[in-house]
Amino acid sequence: MLRSDDVPMATRTDPAFRADVLAGLSLSQKAIPARWFYDRKGSELFEDITRLPEYYPTRAETAILRTICPELVGAVGDGVAVVEFGSGSSVKTPIVLNCIEPAAYVPIDISGEFLRASAATLSSQFPGLPVLPVEADFMHPVPLPPQVADMPKLGFFPGSTIGNMEPLAAGTLLRAMRDWLGEGAMLLIGIDRVKDEATLVAAYDDAAGVTAAFNLNLLDRINRELSGTVPADAFAHEARWNDDAARIEMHLRATRDVEFTVDGRSFAMREGETIHTENSHKYGDRDARLLLRCGGWTPVQQWCGDGTFCVILAEARPVPIAP
Ligand code: AVI
Repeated sequence: MLRSDDVPMATRTDPAFRADVLAGLSLSQKAIPARWFYDRKGSELFEDITRLPEYYPTRAETAILRTICPELVGAVGDGVAVVEFGSGSSVKTPIVLNCIEPAAYVPIDISGEFLRASAATLSSQFPGLPVLPVEADFMHPVPLPPQVADMPKLGFFPGSTIGNMEPLAAGTLLRAMRDWLGEGAMLLIGIDRVKDEATLVAAYDDAAGVTAAFNLNLLDRINRELSGTVPADAFAHEARWNDDAARIEMHLRATRDVEFTVDGRSFAMREGETIHTENSHKYGDRDARLLLRCGGWTPVQQWCGDGTFCVILAEARPVPIAP
């Protein structure tokens, strides 16, 4: 019998990864969705990124969460079910759970492996708390566990992950969250701010090269899981600020002309051509609140610490019919 470790790599490849890579490499501006960064190695590298001196968002958001507890408890009340979109961070989630003392905690994540690991850690950290993980893609609503049906809900979506989506998809996701959590629910969301270009670019192109390794790991993943022959040494990490779209873009730039195959299909790139791998949108003060309103969430309070990053509490109020 095969142990899971013995299963050949090809049979474990997510068909959606294959489809996204093949379609993305066929575009004139090559592009691969950022969600494919997060294999085991990519997730570890992302954890390293959050500790980099240049990567301010995690530190800024954590500092805010540590100071807002009294106001948050006052606004959210007792007996809530905290529903986290993502499998939970070992630092931020305990801050919120310690503060709110919820009646249940529901982490939702597409990766069963990370979900189970973080749910187990949180269960041991909060022994009396019902931890009810849901393995699902939160872009596609599935029912919440029946145990939380009658509890008031607080959605938690930290890290400015919303910024990795195109504004259209961000609005769609916020509306899906509203459908999941229901009218009257609250949402605590972290949203990164527009700031000077040098600070932004440095946060995505650190001196130690960790973000470069995170970006380039995508090519290793393609080679490993899709029988690729991409010469990773012919690509360089690039982070650029796109002022028009208010976003940092990450690209993999070919440093010479290259030809390679992926899953038996041939591709060629000229020197200087790029594969676009991530967008990280940044929002101004009113932009962030307008985005939430477009998703059906009324901002009720916001905390912006030193101004680099904001945590916003919003409520799913009934949609007014007039004026
Ligand atoms: C997960 N996400 C919010 C990160 C960001 O800042 O956009 C991903 C990241 N990419 C490079 N560094 C961090």
